[in-house]
Amino acid sequence: MSTALAKQRLTTWTKAILFNPAVDNAKTILFLYFFVTHLLRVHRHIRARGIVTTGKEIYTWCAQRVIFLLLRLPSARDKVTGEMAKARVDIESKLVPRGEGVVRHLSLPEQGKSLDWILEEMAKMDAELENSTDYRHGKLSGAVYHGGDEMDKVIVAAYARYTVSNPIHPDVFPAVRKMEAEIVSQVLRLFNNPDGAGTMTSGGTESIVMSVKTHRDWARATKNITRPEMIIPDSAHAAFDKAAEYFGVKVHVIPVDRATRRVDIKRVKRAINANTIMLVGSSVNFPDGNQDDITALGALATAYNLGLHVDCCLGSFIVAYLEKAGLAEGTNGRYKLLPFDFRVPGVTAISCDTHKYGFAPKGTSVIMYRNAALREYQYYVYPDWMGGVYGSPSFSGSRPGALIAGAWAAMQYMGSEGYLQSCREIVTCARRIADTIRETIPELYVMGDPPASVVAFASKHPKVNILEVGDKMSQRGWHLNALNGTPGVHLACTRLTVQVADEFIADLKDAVSEAKASPSGKGTMVALYGLGNSSAVGPSMVRQLATTFLDTLYKA
Ligand SMILES: *Cc1c(COP(=O)(O)O)cnc(C)c1O
Ligand SMILES: *[C@@H]1O[C@H](CO)[C@@H](O)[C@H](O)[C@H]1NC(C)=O
Ligand SMILES: *[C@@H]1O[C@H](CO)[C@@H](O)[C@H](O)[C@H]1NC(C)=O
Repeated sequence: MSTALAKQRLTTWTKAILFNPAVDNAKTILFLYFFVTHLLRVHRHIRARGIVTTGKEIYTWCAQRVIFLLLRLPSARDKVTGEMAKARVDIESKLVPRGEGVVRHLSLPEQGKSLDWILEEMAKMDAELENSTDYRHGKLSGAVYHGGDEMDKVIVAAYARYTVSNPIHPDVFPAVRKMEAEIVSQVLRLFNNPDGAGTMTSGGTESIVMSVKTHRDWARATKNITRPEMIIPDSAHAAFDKAAEYFGVKVHVIPVDRATRRVDIKRVKRAINANTIMLVGSSVNFPDGNQDDITALGALATAYNLGLHVDCCLGSFIVAYLEKAGLAEGTNGRYKLLPFDFRVPGVTAISCDTHKYGFAPKGTSVIMYRNAALREYQYYVYPDWMGGVYGSPSFSGSRPGALIAGAWAAMQYMGSEGYLQSCREIVTCARRIADTIRETIPELYVMGDPPASVVAFASKHPKVNILEVGDKMSQRGWHLNALNGTPGVHLACTRLTVQVADEFIADLKDAVSEAKASPSGKGTMVALYGLGNSSAVGPSMVRQLATTFLDTLYKA
């Protein structure tokens, strides 16, 4: 066939296809299909977020584009690059030790070193980074949850015994398999679901990420949902957002009530649509330590056949023991604990960090499900793998059996009595701090009515910038967290806080007076978090700063 002929035929076919009435209908149908699905998505989005929020989102998006274009102008670009370089130097000077005596180990030593040499080097590194091992002073928020010498010994002994173990080979390390199963069973009973199912994970984030994957796959299998969405309070942990980003789940973030700090149930209900796979509530949340109304969320989850994950990563063994400690009814008419565990109908999953108030070694958490059928959606199985039939319960393949042994040992060492005692001490300390702030520092208010171990406070005085108070506390050696949204500062009480509670209150009073007397409007917390709040471009600058921070972590 000659080229000309081919061309002619092609044209004829094309015309035939384009002007064929059947194709015309198909085109129309295709167009209508895309039009309707997009309209439906827009409708769902607006219904979930509300017109005002959607409008704000569009405005912010446009403002950001405009500012990015402006920042491309040479003069502005130089200024931004300059500021970023300055910030980078500042972050590096804080994190990466430099100077005469600092030896950097950038490649492997030719010959292996002795244990003595290794320990000596570690001592040097600790000394270079002043105060880095000095967590025992207790002036930290969270971070170290037990910190007792005896507990260290117990964990190290268990670890030593199972150093090389790996539960991916249960036939080689049967004891580790048994300990993991027993930890899950013990934690399930703490959360009142002895017939439930669960697995251990490497931490709260993995527990949450696995739960999102489980509910996504459950919804796909049982409800044919292929464009999954989930609804979370704005106080929920960042791990939910991380999971959604990893697994392609659309997130609707619902604000909490300003006074109670509980998620707005009406707005959660409005955000539910045919694509919703799960709801989320915290007991307790990280920012201000308050609980969502799990009973109300459970009722919605039941009515619409959705998953409901209750995040007890931080609540951990504290919320599990509050009732037994006689503290669930609250003190002085405040701090009452609402129902949150598997006794609440509609709860399908709970995450509990053993490495927080379970005092187990870092790198351990438990994800629980209402039943084993739901847990199946968490598993990964590849029957045809060339390396053999492959099955793994959670994200990791090989896992540290030594950590499981450490967690098992810590839990048996504490026992129910031990946890009850530590729950009483820690919660009493937190409530005392909250009460003292309410009664004796009129410039501040406590956010919500936190029933467990976290106390967050904010300013109600026009001259007191709470982030500046946070800076003044840092100067006094406290490591607290600054909150975005409503600016605030948070303290997660641990066993180590109990001994320094009075010092905390005294320092806080001084910090407030100082911030009030001479407000500077400057400081690290103000600079970083103030930026994040205030301008359209703030969040992207903070994102860049955070990326710089992450890069700095890998400077040897
Ligand atoms: C700590 C925490 C998590 C999980 O954090 P990890 O650091 O991964 O253990 C999740 N939710 C809340 C409320 C937390 O405080
Ligand atoms: C180390 O601790 C001391 C006393 O607690 C304090 O004065 C000093 O500022 C700290 N140094 C650093 C770098 O944090
Ligand atoms: C999901 O879709 C399949 C076929 O596409 C159908 O057979 C099944 O009934 C659907 N299930 C639900 C729960 O809608």
